[in-house]
Amino acid sequence: MTPDEIAELRSKSYNATVASIAFPNEDLMIVRVRPDGGVQPHRPGQYSTLGLGQWEPRVPGCQEEVQKPGDEKKLIRRAYSISCSMLDEAGTVPDRSGQDWLEFYIVLVRHAEKAPPALTPRLFVLREGSRLFMGEKIAGHYTLDPVKPTDNVLFLSTGTGEAPHNYMLWQLLRSGHQGKILSACCVRYQRDLGYLAIHQELTRRFPNYTYLSLTTREATSAGQKVYIQDLITSGQLEGRLGDTLDPARTHVYLCGNPKMIGVPEISKITGDAVFPQPPGVIEILTQRGFQRDQASLKLKGNIHVEEYW
Ligand SMILES: Cc1cc2nc3c(=O)[nH]c(=O)nc-3n(C[C@H](O)[C@H](O)[C@H](O)COP(=O)(O)OP(=O)(O)OC[C@H]3O[C@@H](n4cnc5c(N)ncnc54)[C@H](O)[C@@H]3O)c2cc1C
Ligand SMILES: NC(=O)c1ccc[n+]([C@@H]2O[C@H](COP(=O)([O-])OP(=O)(O)OC[C@H]3O[C@@H](n4cnc5c(N)ncnc54)[C@H](OP(=O)(O)O)[C@@H]3O)[C@@H](O)[C@H]2O)c1
Repeated sequence: MTPDEIAELRSKSYNATVASIAFPNEDLMIVRVRPDGGVQPHRPGQYSTLGLGQWEPRVPGCQEEVQKPGDEKKLIRRAYSISCSMLDEAGTVPDRSGQDWLEFYIVLVRHAEKAPPALTPRLFVLREGSRLFMGEKIAGHYTLDPVKPTDNVLFLSTGTGEAPHNYMLWQLLRSGHQGKILSACCVRYQRDLGYLAIHQELTRRFPNYTYLSLTTREATSAGQKVYIQDLITSGQLEGRLGDTLDPARTHVYLCGNPKMIGVPEISKITGDAVFPQPPGVIEILTQRGFQRDQASLKLKGNIHVEEYW
């Protein structure tokens, strides 16, 4: 494609600008995107879409892509949960309601099993001022709507799965939530904890907030991997929360690696829920009296799930 054709495609397809971008490590970004038409009304926990054209360059070191003829003019779109830096530069939990940008927390997928990753290798070329596509619709049922002011709230994630939790955490802290709040995030390496310093500062400021991080591939964790599931089964989670996991007054939010979450399949023969093995958090909590919330089936529950893949 000629530079003029690319310029025309960009101008036709893009409706947003990168307001700022930071890279906690070379495979992780915190990007703020300003849509031309203003930020649509939304609730913490929801997601939007970001997109870039097939014609855009990809960062080196990613699985090669074979473009089919005709693909080069297509726009690649993916869903992204809206994240939030819970503290501002002044060290306060800010009023983010009037902001003209949204924050996203994205990991670079270098290799994928089914097909080469299309969007993230292109997103990691973005810099401040770059143009991109942002979907106008902000959607999702993964919100704090069912939480009462005195309920305990647990945010359990792997990797960038903490994105929607950070925005919901901001909402709880801003509203003076009275129940206990605990965030736990499991990552490969310490450097993958893009919001670590903010979480640590929040635990100093808010007595009802607890933060736990787990790393699985540091030399110190070799041979003794602890996953989110292990935190629950060992009792460590309740210990750090300082309370029991009582289904009557606890909401659990799960986001990230599907194996950590463990969504059951419904058997076509018996209609029973068949959990993947080894157990994910849903199975462990179901055995302790929790129930999955399923908006699509109008089933209310206290385990809330966002499925990234
Ligand atoms: C509702 C929703 C919200 C999402 N929010 C986020 C978010 O806030 N941040 C984010 O980084 N991603 C998020 N994702 C995933 C995102 O949509 C893309 O799939 C991802 O960025 C990879 O895009 P890709 O085109 O490069 O590769 P794809 O072809 O989309 O994915 C290839 C493979 O990469 C792996 N993968 C995808 N996403 C992740 C991830 N986040 N962490 C680890 N491995 C992953 C999976 O194995 C997947 O099959 C979300 C997905 C959904 C459905
Ligand atoms: N993070 C990096 O340093 C890095 C570097 C280069 C590329 N990438 C790319 O980034 C993508 C995402 O990586 P990511 O690290 O953010 O996400 P991820 O692969 O989903 O891993 C996040 C965390 O989930 C853990 N996990 C894996 N299986 C689990 C299970 N059954 N139950 C509970 N927890 C489980 C992982 O532990 P394990 O250690 O056991 O996997 C890790 O601590 C990958 O596709 C990769 O290509 C990441």
